Amino acid sequence: MVKTQIQLDSINLIAINFTNLNQNDILRILDMRNDTRVSKYMFLDRKITKKEHFEFIKNLDSAVDRIYFAIKNKKNEILGTISLTNIDMENLSAYIGIYTNPNLNTSNGSLLMQIIKYIGFEKMGLKKLFAQCLKNNHKALRFYTKEGFYEIKTLKNYIKKNDNFIDVVELVLIKE
Ligand SMILES: CC(C)(COP(=O)(O)OP(=O)(O)OC[C@H]1O[C@@H](n2cnc3c(N)ncnc32)[C@H](O)[C@@H]1OP(=O)(O)O)[C@@H](O)C(=O)NCCC(=O)NCCS
Repeated sequence: MVKTQIQLDSINLIAINFTNLNQNDILRILDMRNDTRVSKYMFLDRKITKKEHFEFIKNLDSAVDRIYFAIKNKKNEILGTISLTNIDMENLSAYIGIYTNPNLNTSNGSLLMQIIKYIGFEKMGLKKLFAQCLKNNHKALRFYTKEGFYEIKTLKNYIKKNDNFIDVVELVLIKE
């Protein structure tokens, strides 16, 4: 697995493994993750504390089934984060995660997805990438479909939000 960073020269970006980030960048990521424009679409939508966040990143050091990256440009802006979790090297699959920096005005989802596909399919040799998305996250569902994913199932009443259970849509992208 890619433990440090990947230079993506053709798109002038760098993917930095969370375990290789400096303190300042770790805190910038926490701010993004706790921004309600992002957190409301996450399965865990409460505020994450600094302690939890640092522990989460420390635990990634020894994890073999998940990997998280911050994507930065040459101006040191963080465009967003991507992740591959539940990595299954027997069945060559993983679940992806993605969120863009809500404070940037540019639309960077496709660039981030390009990097997920590169790391997942080319670098790691996976054949299937799954995504799980809240059913009411219409923007993300449209985004995934645009990126070639298709819906395979609906997990009924899967996640509890504000005392209500809501559905989650599972999608897959198969390597061509
Ligand atoms: C999902 C996300 C990564 C998409 O990245 P993005 O850069 O915003 O993507 P785009 O700008 O290409 O928008 C995706 C599509 O959604 C459409 N869209 C925008 N707002 C929308 C809305 N309110 N409802 C439905 N579709 C919408 C856009 O028009 C675009 O489709 P088009 O190119 O056919 O017009 C980003 O919005 C994000 O980080 N959201 C918050 C976190 C999140 O939801 N992550 C996914 C969890 S499953």
